Amino acid sequence: MTQGTVEILNSAAAETSQAADGKELLLKLDDLHVWFELKRFGFGHAGYVRAVDGVTFDMHNRETIAIVGESGCGKTSLMKTILGLYEPIKGKIEYLGKDLNEFNAEETRWYHSQVGYVQQDPFGALPPFMTVRRILEEPLICNGIKDEDERERMIYKVMEEVKLSPVDDYVEKYPHMLSGGQQQRVVIARAMILGPKLIVADEPVSMLDASVRVEILKLLEKVQEDHQLAVIYITHDLSTVRYFSERIFVMYAGQIIERAPVQELINNPKHPYTVALLTATSEPDAANARVMKEIPEGEPPSLVKPPKGCRYHPRCPKMIAGLCDQEEPPHFVISKNHETSCWLYKEE
Ligand SMILES: Nc1ncnc2c1ncn2[C@@H]1O[C@H](COP(=O)(O)OP(=O)(O)O)[C@@H](O)[C@H]1O
Ligand code: SF4
Ligand SMILES: [Mg+2]
Repeated sequence: MTQGTVEILNSAAAETSQAADGKELLLKLDDLHVWFELKRFGFGHAGYVRAVDGVTFDMHNRETIAIVGESGCGKTSLMKTILGLYEPIKGKIEYLGKDLNEFNAEETRWYHSQVGYVQQDPFGALPPFMTVRRILEEPLICNGIKDEDERERMIYKVMEEVKLSPVDDYVEKYPHMLSGGQQQRVVIARAMILGPKLIVADEPVSMLDASVRVEILKLLEKVQEDHQLAVIYITHDLSTVRYFSERIFVMYAGQIIERAPVQELINNPKHPYTVALLTATSEPDAANARVMKEIPEGEPPSLVKPPKGCRYHPRCPKMIAGLCDQEEPPHFVISKNHETSCWLYKEE
């Protein structure tokens, strides 16, 4: 991709986003459904895993949001669809006013330079046969940065930023020579190197030693502030959201069941599942790492045949028989920016 093309895409996108609502809309998800087909004996159709089942939200430039929910609720599938790695079966995603499904190859490359990905498992995310220099150089080459000195400058700059310094001590190392925390710094450097507008961080500290979790979260927070990035932070642990989230979306069985600003959600949770998650939260600091983290009581539901009505009803202590087990609750507005999908909040 030439520099001229990048500039055209950037300025066209900027115009579209400003025209959208005057608030610099960055990302728009509209009724997104991501289903995976199940095959019987490897070929016959046996249903779908409804990993993402009707997710809608808007996100503005420089906004930080957290998506929380227990394992298997569809968080990674949602993120991978935002990254363009999975195609939705229904619904769409717009980035700066452009439909991802309609991107041509050049626009797709541009989009990948705009959105950085920080995976859960840093070791799995890094090619084992490449040095740190090669790992960081690859996206630069793919995006048309031909000048070797320029690439070297960019690699050194980003490595210093993620505190892999002195850079010469790390740049020729292979991933297996680094600690988990250092590997995650390389992943963050790779996500940052093309100057993205949005970082998607999928449980970025859950596979790291407790002793380095806080420093990686603080690094992400600093990078977000310094570059005024938008961040989508995925976690199953609510105690870590305060590092960089303005709004929290709580996800359950492929759907967002409560959304609110951070303090509002923590002080005034409404959905019984959110209440259960909050009481199950532990501290991420090393000193408290021994605290056992519980998960809300009961089994997570099947995503192949989700429960009728409210998907939480088989586990919910407040279930209203005849209503919750029959009809799906819509989003009820609690206050400005606070919504929940629970029949307990039905307006009279
Ligand atoms: N590529 C895939 N093919 C089939 N099923 C998948 C695939 N990816 C995820 N799933 C299923 O989708 C559901 C949601 O998974 P995932 O998005 O990884 O949840 P989370 O990140 O919240 O743990 C799970 O039941 C998982 O087994
Ligand atoms: S809708 Fe009913 S079952 Fe679902 S969370 Fe609310 S009270 Fe519980
Ligand atoms: Mg996941």
